[in-house]
Amino acid sequence: MTAISDEKIPNNVNLAGDRRLQRALEAWQPSFINWWKEMGPEGFQAKDIFLRTAVSVETDGWAHFDYVKMPDYRWGIFLEPKKEGRTHHFGDAMGQPVWDEVPGEHRNMLRRLIVTQGDTEPASVEQQRLLGQTAPSLYDLRNLFQVNVEEGRHLWAMVYLLHTYFGRDGREEAEELLARRSGDRDRPRILGAFNEPTTHWLSFFMFTMFTDRDGKYQLSALSESGFDPLARTCRFMLTEEAHHMFVGETGVQRVAKRACELMKQDPNGDVRKHGGIDLATIQKYLNLWFTLSLDLFGGEVSSNAADAFGAGLKGRHKEDRYSDHVLLEATHHMHVLEDGKVVEKDVPMRTALNEVLREEYIKDCQRGVDRWNKTIREEGVSFEFKLPSSRFHRQIGMWSTASFTPAGEMISKDQYEARHDEWLPSAADEVYVKSLMQAVTEPGKMAGWIAPPLKGINNLPGEFEYVRL
Ligand SMILES: [Fe+2]
Ligand SMILES: [Fe+2]
Repeated sequence: MTAISDEKIPNNVNLAGDRRLQRALEAWQPSFINWWKEMGPEGFQAKDIFLRTAVSVETDGWAHFDYVKMPDYRWGIFLEPKKEGRTHHFGDAMGQPVWDEVPGEHRNMLRRLIVTQGDTEPASVEQQRLLGQTAPSLYDLRNLFQVNVEEGRHLWAMVYLLHTYFGRDGREEAEELLARRSGDRDRPRILGAFNEPTTHWLSFFMFTMFTDRDGKYQLSALSESGFDPLARTCRFMLTEEAHHMFVGETGVQRVAKRACELMKQDPNGDVRKHGGIDLATIQKYLNLWFTLSLDLFGGEVSSNAADAFGAGLKGRHKEDRYSDHVLLEATHHMHVLEDGKVVEKDVPMRTALNEVLREEYIKDCQRGVDRWNKTIREEGVSFEFKLPSSRFHRQIGMWSTASFTPAGEMISKDQYEARHDEWLPSAADEVYVKSLMQAVTEPGKMAGWIAPPLKGINNLPGEFEYVRL
């Protein structure tokens, strides 16, 4: 079951054994390729890119490296092998065998979860489609394209589930996934952060650090699902997601390192004078993308979250770490907004599960920020990045109804507006950062605003020709 066949659509799900499904997916494939050519990376479709492709789902088989033109990338369907005898390990069906087919009573909820996850995958490709034109190095250019083709594959993963398990509505949803467009007024992508433009590489690194990490936590919660095909799909997607966050975390780290180097060279510590991005500006982009990503977890108190858990469709990150998997008595101690005041409260656990997942996510982000701060310390510079409060700059959930400082103190809307540019990128910051974005295309060379990576991809040297232009 784990070998990947050499068919039109590479897969380890025995697609050839299901003619109807094979025909449906082969009919969707040209639409996908058309979408990729229209909305995928602009200007590089005919170039050879040194990419990683899955050749099997075994531990080392999914990381096979070679030059490939992106439209020829082997997008396919890979699920982790089925574990026989798996049972629901949370929710109302706890202890019963997991489902191999969609349970009728949860069909709509399950479809919504899959479509919402699926929609983020092509959205990010659309957001990033022009970035190739300003890559700071061939190494970075290659990483961008790696992330893009894998998001394309994640779309395939969700479309496989829709086609296989949801009949005609599933096929219609699969068409819609190619019809919506990031940032489009009439047909936007479903979630807010996926309609924000990723206009330059600092935003790209912040996106892959913070927004892809939301993806990690959503996939992790879905990989616990009692709908077994979804769980197995998400587990394989998580292996790919790890690289995206590596790109983001090391990307920001390199920008910060370069800022420190330039600070030390200048008598006044002026980084911009030397074409770098100063640490204070990096902090503003951190504030922006971290908070946009917090919104993706949904409302702090949510009956949808309770329903998805009760139904056994969406668990917690690493559900096995917990002892209570039913959560009918448990509560979660958290801050809430009540009568215009921030108060502490015990909330019924099932309804607090969005917040529980968000708290896990924040801890994970903090670990990354700690590593950035270690880099800054090692450079001998005294500055620390801080994650803002989860109340700051929110557009979804209870905190979106009031204004808060990055430290989490409530302020008036006017006070907030007056200090906006101190906390979030201003129009001038955006103009400045964009002005630095000039493509560097010579192998081994780096733009002046970013430090080189510590090592190359697949242990290759930095001057390797990752993209043949
Ligand atoms: Fe993804
Ligand atoms: Fe990703």
